[in-house]
Amino acid sequence: MSGSVLVTGGAGFIGSHIAEAYLAAGWSVTCLDDLSRGKREQVPADATFIEADVRSKEAFEAIADGGFDVINQQAAQIDVRVSVDEPARDASINLVGFANVLGAAAAGKVKRVVFASSGGVVYGDPDVIPTPEPTANLPISPYGVSKLAGEHYLRVLGTLHGFEGVAMRYANVYGPRQDPKSEAGVVSIFVSRILEGKPLTIFGDGEQTRDYVFVRDVARANVLASTAAVSRGDRLDVPAFNIATGSETSVNDLARHVMQALGREVPVEHAPPRAGELQRSCLDISKANRELRWQPDVSFAEGLTALAGWFEGTVR
Ligand SMILES: NC(=O)c1ccc[n+]([C@@H]2O[C@H](COP(=O)([O-])OP(=O)(O)OC[C@H]3O[C@@H](n4cnc5c(N)ncnc54)[C@H](O)[C@@H]3O)[C@@H](O)[C@H]2O)c1
Repeated sequence: MSGSVLVTGGAGFIGSHIAEAYLAAGWSVTCLDDLSRGKREQVPADATFIEADVRSKEAFEAIADGGFDVINQQAAQIDVRVSVDEPARDASINLVGFANVLGAAAAGKVKRVVFASSGGVVYGDPDVIPTPEPTANLPISPYGVSKLAGEHYLRVLGTLHGFEGVAMRYANVYGPRQDPKSEAGVVSIFVSRILEGKPLTIFGDGEQTRDYVFVRDVARANVLASTAAVSRGDRLDVPAFNIATGSETSVNDLARHVMQALGREVPVEHAPPRAGELQRSCLDISKANRELRWQPDVSFAEGLTALAGWFEGTVR
């Protein structure tokens, strides 16, 4: 099943892969991005591009008048530290911007809004690992609050205006086009430093764990979530899906995996632990498995090789 979709943040890392996945599935695709972090050349050639801020009147009109079946919201302020230092800026993009998009989606009578949430932040510091969707939500950063509040806006405005909302709670996404300067991109940072022959820095003892999922698997999940039958319910987690691998990898193991996949060794240096960092993060993906019929199918070694290929200019 396909239709017409507008991807906000479609010039960014994950959004540009999502745009490609929709095109491959036969959708007509428009990307909207203010290019604050995204790059025009990352927008697929077969997609229409609109340069606009999600908070703007232009974005509202493009969505309200565009006749889209689905709006896929990837645009965001993505840096946890920025959200701590400048909470109003984070809220302005992630909440006011998303509310503008949702108001426009209602005006444009779109059928469904798919929203990039984050399984790494909406649960806070969870007791259960791998963490399933119904786990209590107590974010520990303003960015986490803006993602969780985004899910609430989606649910409430969807119910009031009659569109469906699906929240995609990503784990740590990695792959080609991830900016190694962005704070979310530890895999990208490690790959780029190893290719440059520079040492890796690990904060703390390196036993903190994360769940790393390849970007093209995430993109495929977004396409499936655009048409799959989703339940409606009176709990926030009902239309939410963890998009992850369900496997825990420590930072020490990540460093080893990356060196192995690239066939190169560099020294590893340790620095003091970073304040507020979660010790463990890993998501239960049985619900996406069951309801979206999705599971990741790119192995860590394949994903790391693709990322290295992108740095070396052989993979787009
Ligand atoms: N990368 C991860 O591991 C991860 C994990 C969980 C959730 N997410 C979420 O996934 C989404 C995509 O993240 P990404 O890693 O691809 O980051 P990214 O920065 O590459 O993509 C975000 C895009 O949004 C655009 N953007 C930012 N502010 C905008 C605005 N005001 N108006 C229009 N466009 C704007 C940027 O230019 C960029 O192209 C975000 O919502 C992020 O919070 C990412």
